[in-house]
Amino acid sequence: MTTSAETAVHNGKLFIHTVGCQMNELDSELVVAALRKHGYELTADVADADTVLFNTCSVREHAEHKIYSALGRLKYSKRKRPDQVIGVMGCMAQKDQKLIFQKAPHVDLVVGTGQLSEIPLLIDNARENRERQMAVSLARRDATRQKVADSFESYDPLRDPEMRHSAFQAYVRIMIGCDKFCTYCVVPMTRGPEQSRSPRHIVQEVQQLAAEGVKEVTLLGQTVNSYRHTEDGREYRLSDLIASFHDTPGLERIKFVTNYPRDMTDDLLQAVRDLPKVAHYLHVPAQSGCDEMLKRMKRGYTVEHYREMMHRIHETVPDCSVSSDFIVGFCGETDAAHEKSMELIREFRFKNSFIFKYSARTGTKADAIMLDDVPEETKRRRNNEMLDLQNEISEEDNAARIGREYDILVEGPSKSAVKAGDDDSIPQTQLSGRTRCDRIVVFDGNRRLTGSTTRVRIDDCTATTLIGTIVTRELQHTADGGLPILG
Ligand code: 5AD
Ligand code: SF4
Repeated sequence: MTTSAETAVHNGKLFIHTVGCQMNELDSELVVAALRKHGYELTADVADADTVLFNTCSVREHAEHKIYSALGRLKYSKRKRPDQVIGVMGCMAQKDQKLIFQKAPHVDLVVGTGQLSEIPLLIDNARENRERQMAVSLARRDATRQKVADSFESYDPLRDPEMRHSAFQAYVRIMIGCDKFCTYCVVPMTRGPEQSRSPRHIVQEVQQLAAEGVKEVTLLGQTVNSYRHTEDGREYRLSDLIASFHDTPGLERIKFVTNYPRDMTDDLLQAVRDLPKVAHYLHVPAQSGCDEMLKRMKRGYTVEHYREMMHRIHETVPDCSVSSDFIVGFCGETDAAHEKSMELIREFRFKNSFIFKYSARTGTKADAIMLDDVPEETKRRRNNEMLDLQNEISEEDNAARIGREYDILVEGPSKSAVKAGDDDSIPQTQLSGRTRCDRIVVFDGNRRLTGSTTRVRIDDCTATTLIGTIVTRELQHTADGGLPILG
């Protein structure tokens, strides 16, 4: 709790800016929930906040630059408001540590991914003592694996329903860290050794979420399908874990991200096929379509392995959609190597691909021993070429769905409806939801359909979105319980 000495100068307003992956979104949700219990409330106005937190990402340099610029902008406002506490949490905090204080001396707090539970106390210390606070985990090279693992705490406190980004969708962390050490990637350093959470805790968390009205859970892990945990003498793999909470009443859809190609085992694919609540969607990053590049990346598979995995996916779950990540311009990537990645996209026709220009990261093997020799201009060209190809494929495959009907789990007003300023006063709006294969569908309907499953016919599409019309005429009640209206 805050002390009386500091509540006098402390308005309890918290501003938090989150970048990066879903793991970061979840971390922010949990940190905000904890701070709310300590009397904080969120503000969207940084000038109004006496506590400012940045939850950061180190996967690419660009994300870090943006945070340092944002911190730079706060330097002057802090001169006017010395009571403001500014904190950097997450991957950049673990990676840069004291360097953050050097580059941005007005920062008060640096908290790594493994110390998030300490944030309320560290903020209090910073405010009361006007002293910098830093809490980070051990570096991987500085201690045994077990000691380093122990210094990274999986932060999964009790959930706060008010803090979820959606009332019926939730992320559930099932693992932290990564042991794959792909040569380009900083995550094994920033998130520490791979550790799977106890199945009992995960099942309890899912049950609690479902009891609070959550219908869709997305299980999170850097390599989520590498999940393994022995409890009460029984070994749980991801397939066992999903089976153990699948029948939770109220739960309707289960997703999991991100998958590692080599760990895509048959038992998991059979679980996707046999368990009706599991989405028919797998995000399995290929990163490259060239064996030489995959070897340099130390991904641990060849194109032929990836092909064999794709065949097993389609054999077991024929309508399963697959999405991928690619890095363009990795060290030594020639035009011919790039063309092989393009060929892989043509062969597997991913639902979508996230494409990244290689960014050298301090602390990684590629940065230490390889030359970042592809010019920025070439990276940009390859990035654009790949995006164009993927968009063309996504649009063709979406167009093939025109005229068909799908059951859509409605997520709420679409991005464009929100942008256009539609709010609760306008019940009829453009809604957005997803098919079981994770395709985004927009259609007009009543916002009260949010969280329900609605049948939609597809009339049109873009590369990213299916556009449809509701074909079920579901009866709903208005907010005041009055006359039923048609959705
Ligand atoms: N440069 C560019 N992209 C990267 N990724 C990871 N590390 C880097 C890097 N150094 C990409 C990978 C990964 C995604 C989350 O980010 O494609 O799957
Ligand atoms: Fe990074 Fe590779 Fe681990 Fe993914 S599997 S988090 S790319 S090291």
